[in-house]
Amino acid sequence: MIWTVLNETDQKIKLVSKGSTDGILPKGSFLTVEDNKSKRKFILRVDESKQVVPYSPSPLLSDMDLEYLEADKKCKNEITAYRVKDVFERDDGMVDFIHPTSPARRSSQEEINLAMGMGDKGPKVFVSTVHSNQNRVLRDESGKHITATLPSDFFYHQTLICGKTGSGKTVAMKYLAQYFIEEIKGAVLAVNVKDIDFLQMDRASVSDDEAVLSEWKSLGMSPHGVSNVTMYMPANRRYESVKGINYDICRKITLDVNQIQPEALTGLLQGISDKGALNLPGIFRYWRQYEAEKGKARFTEFVKYFNSKEDSKRFTSISDRGEETPVTIHPGTYDNISRSLESAIDFFDNSSADSLDYDDVLQQGKMSILDFSGDKGPRFGSILLRDLLKKIVDAKDAMMSKVPILIIIDEVHQFYSTDSSREALDDIERICRTGRSKEIGVIFASQSIEDIPKGIPSVVNTQIFFKTDSSSLKSIGVKISPEELEGLRKGFAIASIHDLPQLKILKFPLSLCGVVKNE
Ligand SMILES: Nc1ncnc2c1ncn2[C@@H]1O[C@H](COP(=O)(O)OP(=O)(O)OP(=O)(O)O)[C@@H](O)[C@H]1O
Ligand SMILES: [Mg+2]
Repeated sequence: MIWTVLNETDQKIKLVSKGSTDGILPKGSFLTVEDNKSKRKFILRVDESKQVVPYSPSPLLSDMDLEYLEADKKCKNEITAYRVKDVFERDDGMVDFIHPTSPARRSSQEEINLAMGMGDKGPKVFVSTVHSNQNRVLRDESGKHITATLPSDFFYHQTLICGKTGSGKTVAMKYLAQYFIEEIKGAVLAVNVKDIDFLQMDRASVSDDEAVLSEWKSLGMSPHGVSNVTMYMPANRRYESVKGINYDICRKITLDVNQIQPEALTGLLQGISDKGALNLPGIFRYWRQYEAEKGKARFTEFVKYFNSKEDSKRFTSISDRGEETPVTIHPGTYDNISRSLESAIDFFDNSSADSLDYDDVLQQGKMSILDFSGDKGPRFGSILLRDLLKKIVDAKDAMMSKVPILIIIDEVHQFYSTDSSREALDDIERICRTGRSKEIGVIFASQSIEDIPKGIPSVVNTQIFFKTDSSSLKSIGVKISPEELEGLRKGFAIASIHDLPQLKILKFPLSLCGVVKNE
């Protein structure tokens, strides 16, 4: 199949198909132009592609019972493409012409690697295309899947994943998590919020879908579970034995009031936007320093202490720099906090369970899953995540661990609501910024970009959109219509990836682990 270069408009190359080409080359494909005049090679990415009819028959013809001419039926594929790579780069300060009439053909895997400037270390995904409601994994002339290698470093530049329900977000995160464990030999911390989404990572995925099987084959991969997984479940939750979950690798966890980071208590304040509520960590700090029995305190005692101030509502707060200030809490806010504290009592100090510290998680090749599904799960999770993340970052900051870590927060709005305090988001931003130097990666996922707490989009360098109806794709660069975005099939996504700007449309392989049909 061959296309011919026509001209250039607005720095985009226009091409048209030659007679023998009998289809539309979808957006996201790559073309290699072999310039017949300069003998140089250029690699282009298709950004717009459509069918044109050179001898468009007159509409009147349809009412006349005439034989159509062959020419009336003729279709051509007109393409607008972005110039991605000049294979030969001039050193005289000029840029080569791409001469009209030069032929172009589909690029090979090697040419695409060159165009994207890809290394060979990193998780592999499939380069893909979209046209109307059709999604395809790109193939070379011999029919082989074309892959792209995400640069390993992208993990530490933070990632945001959005997409409607069932579009492939969780599967993609499982795939990336397994890569991080097995190839990077890092640690993974993932939260499970829905059903048993992340609770079967120790098991091999099962699929009888031909496309999935052939994708695995072309990557030379076969499904297998992660060998070192521990699943942490809140001690206060009762579990019925769910079929398919290996309870031998589950541990019960609780929060320890003597060790918890005071800021983590802001996790309790989800839905309380009053500024006065932000004094809670300071009030807790004061209580732990002056009122509680060192090392033996219990959360119920703090709740009692808080409730004992019902009349005056006056407290002393200690900031994280140790400054003491008197605070008076507004009655409405006081009642609100008091209720939140009472409902959190069973999250704490459960003698039959352990509290988590950074070294439980920061272990080479270990995947830790925090199960926050169920009624109170997200609230427990909000506190535990804040506490644990802070401990992990502090440990990394203090060089106490060199193990790289990937933190996966699915359904992120459940833990960090949009109106949640600056403080909590400051924490997340700190983690994200430290990430680059300390090898901490965070993946945030949510169904809609509107749910993502403000502030997160500004710290992520990779954005992946599965099927979605959001109009937040302005800056990605390929012209994707809202219909095309809404029509993306499972696993296909539009992306803007750190250090891999040329990869716009991709498909994740089905994760090798954790995607097990419910028996
Ligand atoms: N990359 C993929 N290749 C093939 N099939 C996929 C892929 N990703 C997802 N699927 C299929 O789609 C199903 C749903 O995917 P997934 O659980 O990732 O959705 P989700 O976006 O997380 O949805 P939700 O918002 O409801 O959690 C999977 O169980 C799998 O069968
Ligand atoms: Mg999901």
